Amino acid sequence: MPAELVCFAERCRARFPITEIAYNCPHCGSLLEAVYPDCSGAAASWKSLWRNRRTSNAPLDQSGVWRYREFIPFLDDYAHAVTLREGCTPLLDGRLAASYGGLDGLAFKHQGFNPTGSFKDNGMTCGVAQAVRLGVKRVACVSTGNTSASMAAYASAAGLQPVIFIPHGNISFGKLAQALEYGARTLQVEANFDQILALVRQIAEKLDIYLLNSINPFRIEGQKTIMLEMMDQRDWRVPDWVVLPGGNLGNISAFGKAFREMRQLGLIDHLPRLAVIQAEGSAPFYDLFHSSDRARLQAVEHPETLATAIKIGDPVSWPKALHEISTSSGVVEKVSEQEIADAKAIIGRCGIGCEPASAATLAGIRKLTHAGVIAHDADVVAVLTGNVLKDPDYIHRYHTGNLHSPGGTRLKSTFGNAPELLPAEADRIIASLR
Ligand code: F0G
Repeated sequence: MPAELVCFAERCRARFPITEIAYNCPHCGSLLEAVYPDCSGAAASWKSLWRNRRTSNAPLDQSGVWRYREFIPFLDDYAHAVTLREGCTPLLDGRLAASYGGLDGLAFKHQGFNPTGSFKDNGMTCGVAQAVRLGVKRVACVSTGNTSASMAAYASAAGLQPVIFIPHGNISFGKLAQALEYGARTLQVEANFDQILALVRQIAEKLDIYLLNSINPFRIEGQKTIMLEMMDQRDWRVPDWVVLPGGNLGNISAFGKAFREMRQLGLIDHLPRLAVIQAEGSAPFYDLFHSSDRARLQAVEHPETLATAIKIGDPVSWPKALHEISTSSGVVEKVSEQEIADAKAIIGRCGIGCEPASAATLAGIRKLTHAGVIAHDADVVAVLTGNVLKDPDYIHRYHTGNLHSPGGTRLKSTFGNAPELLPAEADRIIASLR
């Protein structure tokens, strides 16, 4: 049996060829996922195979995604893969962040070290490989900024035309600048992420454009390798918790699938618990998880947060995300703008740094340890999803006391570090530094 696309809904499970261009099941409308033949017999040799590839100079082996190609075997010809040497991101210890979060120790899996500065590159290299294989010429996505930056880079590298749709005035300048530089046709639409995604799903079919949002199952395949690489780096010791921010909920869907498949293949013997953290003003998944009726997600019509990457009110991947949280005995938490801003400054003081959405992890950990959900001596990995330079305006405002919440209240710069202005006079400079 070759790789297939299969409907995610338990009651349907309709199957389609891996080359079908579809994002939802044509029968029941549910999400699709890539499914592979059982390889558990072969998997025993993969750990050493993958480790040995780290010393190879072959482009695919240098990629922290394609190095693990046996785990994502949807391509039949690796000439279709385009790599910018994505993945290969470090696991970093954050001692100050650990104590701020109420933990004895904390490791950050920092996806901001990727070629375009976010975890999207892990998924995009796969999505674009599938686009090349299908022979499409144009690819598109709706984005809060990182997906578009990543898609622009990978599509251009592959010789495809990238078309991106972004909510006008609602993405950081750093991310918009990347899309322009990487040559994307950039359409700023006067609507929010959810409204534009609904529009673009209609447009894509009419214009014969291949969609590379995280509803695309091949994006999810690539993002699985974030957790596989982390396990490789940890010599396959399963952490107690993996904590990540949640927006459109593609990443949690990918992480959960990755751990379930690692267990099926015998690479690990149990699952870690997964914790998704949302921003208070954009927390429909938090509401769903804590409601008595989990059959339907109530969208947040006007999502708000300064962490614009996760400013999403109607996340498409919620059914997958809910399945992964339930299967892993996971939790969903939400955090305020002030909590995100302060946690971000603490991550910065570890010498690590990240963009606002990523810092929701540490803010969430702090809340979950205080509530006794995560034990102080738990083995915890938090995933930092984006680079510190993605949103410098936010950083400057925080440190100079000018950061205002979407509602207009000024946030405290609890750990503020404002620059000083001095005249060009040696005495004054010496006096200031004494
Ligand atoms: N963190 C960052 C930095 C992001 O850019 C995103 C999503 C998330 C977390 C949330 O991940 O959607 O998989 O739950 N950004 C998307 C974009 C939506 O368009 O760049 P998710």
